[in-house]
Amino acid sequence: MQSDFILQGHVLSYQASPFEGDAPEAAARIDQAVAVSGGKIAGAGSLEHMQALLPQAEVIRHGEKLILAGFVDAHVHYPQTAMIASWGKRLIDWLNSYTFPEEMRFADRAYADEISNRYLDLTVANGTTTVCSFATIHPESVDAFFTAAQARGQRVVAGKTCMNRNAPDGLQDTVQSAYDDSKALLQRWHGVDRIEYAITPRFSPTSTPEQLEVMGQLWAEHSDCLMQTHLSEQLDEIEWVKFLFPEARDYLDTYEKFGLLGGKGLYGHAIHLEERERHQLREHGAGLVHCPTSNTFIGSGLFDMAGLMAEGQNIGLATDTGGGSSFSMLRTMAAAYEIGQLRGVPLHASQLLWLATQGSARTLHMADKIGNIAPGMEADLVVLDLASTPAIAQRSACANDLWEAIFPTVMMGDDRAVSEVWINGKRQ
Ligand code: GUN
Ligand code: ZN
Repeated sequence: MQSDFILQGHVLSYQASPFEGDAPEAAARIDQAVAVSGGKIAGAGSLEHMQALLPQAEVIRHGEKLILAGFVDAHVHYPQTAMIASWGKRLIDWLNSYTFPEEMRFADRAYADEISNRYLDLTVANGTTTVCSFATIHPESVDAFFTAAQARGQRVVAGKTCMNRNAPDGLQDTVQSAYDDSKALLQRWHGVDRIEYAITPRFSPTSTPEQLEVMGQLWAEHSDCLMQTHLSEQLDEIEWVKFLFPEARDYLDTYEKFGLLGGKGLYGHAIHLEERERHQLREHGAGLVHCPTSNTFIGSGLFDMAGLMAEGQNIGLATDTGGGSSFSMLRTMAAAYEIGQLRGVPLHASQLLWLATQGSARTLHMADKIGNIAPGMEADLVVLDLASTPAIAQRSACANDLWEAIFPTVMMGDDRAVSEVWINGKRQ
């Protein structure tokens, strides 16, 4: 049962993108309290006003803690949970050595159930309330994940990963089975409770042109679905794509020519983009998903956040577990900050928190439902302790303003900073 309640603390919401105005903090608003009724945000404002709005509601006092929308992780591989932090390889070797053997195990539904629950436990403990995940080629891996998320009332997106070449036997589908299995899963799950299906070709090297074509056909038949894949992550990968698709103008073209470029498309990594690709991605309003801990861990490169934002791209933030080295969106924001620094553009805490909430929700086309605190939005919330460790506490204690108090938690925080998580108005 969802009861009415009011959370008191520093309540952070956004009225605009902090990448668009002059001062990043001006896009944010800080209130004293947020009121929740029937699983939805009733309002944010002074504690007095929220109590007038919901006179019967319990007031949960969080003192100096920060209250914001739950984190939205826009690109993950839940089946890679158990092999996160695997040493020493770059993308293609990493896939062959670690990822594909682990993904083979998801033919076993019991294993898929176990990892789905383990993954959702880990991410909720880190304050993440929505994820957009790749599953494996096995339809059971999608059923397992959606069943676990549904039981928790979580808003999630996932899809059966389609691949019919350049992967081990036992981890390949076919042109026909990719279409049929994806369609059956989509019809079973898309729009059920808070669940959405995403059409999921892994990336061009593991799909034949014929498979990409039927993926494009399925997307055209179900254009309300998201489509997720990978784009221009490593230079070796791009060379391989050029070899496999000699006719293609560039990497993006291998998707574009099969109808796999669109505003509801999500393109993970998008690091080494050519001018034509940037133009086309922007024209379509496609979602680019920045995965900074993965990009440093696998040695992929430095995402051009400032340049891509300046040209009006739609950008979200993600862990890319288990190519990424953490389940934590705090750790992910810290890595995004560091990559920004290496490119000469420091991101403000307001921008980092926006990327981890609204930015990602926008790429998932869910910004009207999650990723912010505003009346009518779903009550997925996280409460952050801004003094969760002695090292963080001593730094935030001498902050001159709230943003300075928040930044040490963004840079040094982890699951210990997560005091409370609410999903659909229920405490986890
Ligand atoms: N490209 C294709 N598959 C993957 C994957 O599982 N992880 C990452 N980081 N890149 C990919
Ligand atoms: Zn990925």
